[in-house]
Amino acid sequence: MQAVVIEKSGGPEVLKVMNRQVPEPGRGEVRVDVKCTAVNRADLIQRQGFYPAPPGAPQDIPGLEYAGVVAEVGCSVQDLKVGDRVFGLTAGGSYAESVVVHSGTVAPIPDRLTFEEAAAIPEAYTTAYDAMVCQGGLSAGESVLIHAVGSGVGTAALQIADAIGANAVGTTRNEEKLRQARELGLNCGVVAKEGRFAEAVLEHFPHGVNVVLELVGGDYVSEDLDCIAIRGRIILVGLLAGRSVDLDLGKVLRKRACIQGTTLRARPLEEKILAGKVLAENIVPLLESGKLRPSIDQVFPLKDAAEAHRYLESNESFGKVILKVGE
Ligand SMILES: NC(=O)c1ccc[n+]([C@@H]2O[C@H](COP(=O)([O-])OP(=O)(O)OC[C@H]3O[C@@H](n4cnc5c(N)ncnc54)[C@H](OP(=O)(O)O)[C@@H]3O)[C@@H](O)[C@H]2O)c1
Repeated sequence: MQAVVIEKSGGPEVLKVMNRQVPEPGRGEVRVDVKCTAVNRADLIQRQGFYPAPPGAPQDIPGLEYAGVVAEVGCSVQDLKVGDRVFGLTAGGSYAESVVVHSGTVAPIPDRLTFEEAAAIPEAYTTAYDAMVCQGGLSAGESVLIHAVGSGVGTAALQIADAIGANAVGTTRNEEKLRQARELGLNCGVVAKEGRFAEAVLEHFPHGVNVVLELVGGDYVSEDLDCIAIRGRIILVGLLAGRSVDLDLGKVLRKRACIQGTTLRARPLEEKILAGKVLAENIVPLLESGKLRPSIDQVFPLKDAAEAHRYLESNESFGKVILKVGE
């Protein structure tokens, strides 16, 4: 099969199309012929040599999600058959014509979605739902601050918040992305200038927000504490602005705030199966009813993965960047 391989650590130019052995499914696994995958920030960091794939995952083929068709079924798999349209998360290896995944992590693609649309779902929507709802306890009537609201995860979070009846306020550094987010349904938007947003958030929600989906990290976390409600929950998902911050712990005490970190890729199989259930049981029904609709910025052929990486790295994209296999 053809795969996009990280030849050595470095810039986008180190991504090369190569021939690789087709992977074989073991017990409880299926092989999926990948129709589309998507680019994630983790892929960029892996390519740079700072985020090795976990043990058991292909070490030099990036790719954390896929949409495709079941091509081969391993022993003791009962609920999937050859030809099923499926999507899901994988710990690596989906920049390829085939990927092997555990059957428990796989979800059916709703009929109304194309493969391109389906590939925009697993990582962004599972991350957002798991962080805001499962871990942050966000519920109807509560408020949520979504940073980098034009990102893949941010656009997913905005729609999920709306679907469950929560009130979202979103930040971006880019006026144009705020306009696009408004078209997606964002009512309260803030352009974060030099990392400042708390005052503007409090104008929308004077008592502070109940949950923060923290996709940016760094100094944003300190500012979060200035606009979080009493007993608010900050769910730390991404560190785009850095991994350290000077924090006034007095604010954490006074607000009785909770700061919780999360990552999907490093979880053991049992927890990945639970994440697959979030996709199948919570997200798929909302896709079927049309309450969620993926926001896709651009589709690149898989062979142009380097160009797709450059585009994501430019911070210009709004929503997801998709890679299409076989073009
Ligand atoms: N923990 C997990 O399991 C998990 C899973 C998925 C994603 N993530 C993380 O979630 C975040 C979003 O991922 P994504 O794939 O959705 O991202 P994305 O689509 O690539 O969008 C990221 C956006 O973040 C903003 N940004 C970049 N650098 C920034 C900085 N220094 N300060 C403020 N804003 C900055 C930019 O938008 P503006 O133009 O608005 O500034 C950029 O377009 C990333 O940190 C990613 O690593 C974590």
